[in-house]
Amino acid sequence: MTPEVGDIRGAPVIIGAGVAGLMTALHLAPHPVYLLSPTWLGTEASSALAQGALAASLGADDSPDLHLADTLAAGDGLCDESVVRRVLNAADRAIENLMDLGVAFDCSWDGTLRLGLEAAHSRRRIVNAGGDSTGRELVRAHHRCEANAFDHNSGRHGSPPAHCGKWAGQRRAGGKKCTGDCLSDPSTGGIGALFRDTTNPPGSFGHGLALAACAGAELADLEFIQFHPTALDVSHRPMPLVSEAVRGEGAVLINERGHRFLSNTLGGELASRDVVARAVWQQLATGHRVYLDARQSLGQKFAKRFPAVARHCRDGGIDPAVEPIPVRPAAHYHMGGVAVDAAGRSTVPGLWACGEVACTGLHGANRLASNSLTEAVTTSLWVAQSVAAAPAGWQWPRLVAKAPLPPDPSSVRHVASNALGVIRDGQALSDTVETLLPIAVRNTAASDPALIALMIAIAALRREESRGSHCRSDFPPRSAQARSSRLTLASAMTVAAELSLRPAERSA
Ligand code: SIN
Repeated sequence: MTPEVGDIRGAPVIIGAGVAGLMTALHLAPHPVYLLSPTWLGTEASSALAQGALAASLGADDSPDLHLADTLAAGDGLCDESVVRRVLNAADRAIENLMDLGVAFDCSWDGTLRLGLEAAHSRRRIVNAGGDSTGRELVRAHHRCEANAFDHNSGRHGSPPAHCGKWAGQRRAGGKKCTGDCLSDPSTGGIGALFRDTTNPPGSFGHGLALAACAGAELADLEFIQFHPTALDVSHRPMPLVSEAVRGEGAVLINERGHRFLSNTLGGELASRDVVARAVWQQLATGHRVYLDARQSLGQKFAKRFPAVARHCRDGGIDPAVEPIPVRPAAHYHMGGVAVDAAGRSTVPGLWACGEVACTGLHGANRLASNSLTEAVTTSLWVAQSVAAAPAGWQWPRLVAKAPLPPDPSSVRHVASNALGVIRDGQALSDTVETLLPIAVRNTAASDPALIALMIAIAALRREESRGSHCRSDFPPRSAQARSSRLTLASAMTVAAELSLRPAERSA
């Protein structure tokens, strides 16, 4: 890995600049760390776009055990229960911690935190800030803390939690070892930019995953990609989200004939996200158009309750108070990632990951809404403690500038969208592996995106069942036993080379 950030020595490196990375840096203060990001800090992190918020069992009718049961049910057999328990038990403390940092969560008239409802949660437990702008509020609060501690103009840092670096780097496949310590966070973790339809920023094509894979780290459950069922159906990217909380307030999904197609499904519009996304997808695939109808449930109250969604609708010429909102599924969150423990340690000594790029086992096959910011905030403390406990005299990485190739996923997007979407099949997946292999091994701007799409396709091909967000039309049943999947760059390359042999050579 050779990011063009100058010569960095003497401090751990956090790749990315979303909430998980920023909080890890704050926990590590006064020890300096580097935050590396494809863009200026926070400007393109998925965290900053998050409308939904943190899930925590704060209501009088709620408990961490109920939250645990909902998380395990959504995860469809693949959650690591010990990690789920640890994260969810720490959620209320994490929210207090954020309030101490100045995050102003939304309150009810009596001054208590207002708790929203999202899909597959059996209780109201979603804590928001700024109505539907929680991610932006969180990133802002962290920047305020950073600005207080580090004066960029004078270069003096009383007690600097972080330095800002701009990452324009490129790694090369081939198993070059990344020495020292790196941490990753959501802005490098998302993979939505590999798809035509996504709610993720354009830089989210799995750069952090590529980095970790090249360092030899194991990646876990890569095939599990969450498609949000209700992205606003507009032409620009990223697609604005129409938060699940809108359905939590009673909005319903209809097609152009006004038919409420989820009315006979258990949980209806608030069934788990994979179920709703598939139902919307099937409507679109059979020639229908799909709308979220909030006229009855919210009407004129819409703009006050969901100001960001209302603004996006207005920009698209839609008034949700009086007309249904056109929606479609979009790649939104990657449950898979760098295989780590709850302290963010990957299988490569000295390499940590946290946030969306990491796979801790919290989300399993399908993330429960708003559990990811909860994960980012809670695990950042454990990651920081683990980094701080690194032995004295540890060799932190030395990253040397090299001419960067701004990565460009555009040539991969068509292939990934067709094969890795809401419904998959084996033939399309093996064709995709064959198409992507030559792109992934060449040193071009498309190599990293192609490498990650290739690894996802291999993981999806190997999982011959349908579970959570992974749906195979050629293997509809769910296997009796749930198994997490693991892949390294070396094993992926072996499988890809084998699949790419022509049938004649394969049988020879
Ligand atoms: C939403 O508000 O619908 C998204 C929340 C999430 O992705 O967790």
